[in-house]
Amino acid sequence: MIIAKTIEQLRAALRGQRDARPEQHIGFVPTMGFLHEGHASLMRRAKEECGFAVLSIFVNPMQFGPNEDFDRYPRDAERDLRIAEQNGIDVVFMPSVEEMYPNKPVTKILISGVTERLCGASRPGHFDGVGLVVGKLFNLVQPDRAYFGMKDAQQVAVIERMTEDLNIPVQIVPCETVRESDGLALSSRNVYLSEEERGQAVILSRTLALAEEWVKSPGMTNRALSDKIKESIGQAPLADIDYAEVLTYPDLEPLNDESELTAHEGKILVALAVKFGRTRLIDNRLMELH
Ligand code: PAJ
Repeated sequence: MIIAKTIEQLRAALRGQRDARPEQHIGFVPTMGFLHEGHASLMRRAKEECGFAVLSIFVNPMQFGPNEDFDRYPRDAERDLRIAEQNGIDVVFMPSVEEMYPNKPVTKILISGVTERLCGASRPGHFDGVGLVVGKLFNLVQPDRAYFGMKDAQQVAVIERMTEDLNIPVQIVPCETVRESDGLALSSRNVYLSEEERGQAVILSRTLALAEEWVKSPGMTNRALSDKIKESIGQAPLADIDYAEVLTYPDLEPLNDESELTAHEGKILVALAVKFGRTRLIDNRLMELH
């Protein structure tokens, strides 16, 4: 496994690979590190489907708001490298902030529409930062396929639109959310949770499983479903709802409050962001009604 800390080292590693095997596809998994089994599942899929897998580990300051957890975001490079190697990664790109942003960028990637709600609304500027760094990483790695987790369903929708709008020649591959045995979606941020918070955090996945049933009940409207979801999360005393929304997918547009959900054609996304203390967790479930 090659570890590239600079852009020059990354380019040299990829050039070597492309020269040796021009037909080889390159699979890419962008991450912010503190790797867990969710990340590992993307790495294995990239390696399996492409034969050559590149992982990036970069905690991107541009996607954190001024009062968010950039400084305390968990980091463990040594452990990450071990996990990368065990999961078939060929090249790890782990640049410094200075390497990625030697100057304050004057170029913005503003993605509208799909960023209007959910995390785009509650974390202003977040997806501009994600769009910029993923755009840079795509230019640096030039992957054939890039693997993203559906745990961040809005991120998938945003990156899909960005690559389409900018004609970036990469196929975006959405991958299933990996969960703990009780249903909690794996996240680097789960380490922030106290034991009590961790116990209650299962309310997200439990509510989403219930929502899947509620959606199917005759006469269920968007408003009634949203109310039931909020009521269910409210049963966890430490849960503080940031958002709980039902939207179309992948356009992420709101549904009419009074419309019957069973009449909706196409996919709907139930998306949650819930705070436990200082820790904000997200989860979602994509549902196909027909
Ligand atoms: P990060 O939160 O580290 O996540 C990296 C990738 O792993 C994302 O595609 C995310 O959806 C996926 N992932 C996280 N938890 C998962 C789980 N439980 N199951 C499956 N996949 C999971 O997302 C980012 O980093 C950043 O925004 C990034 C795209 C790297 C840009 O900075």
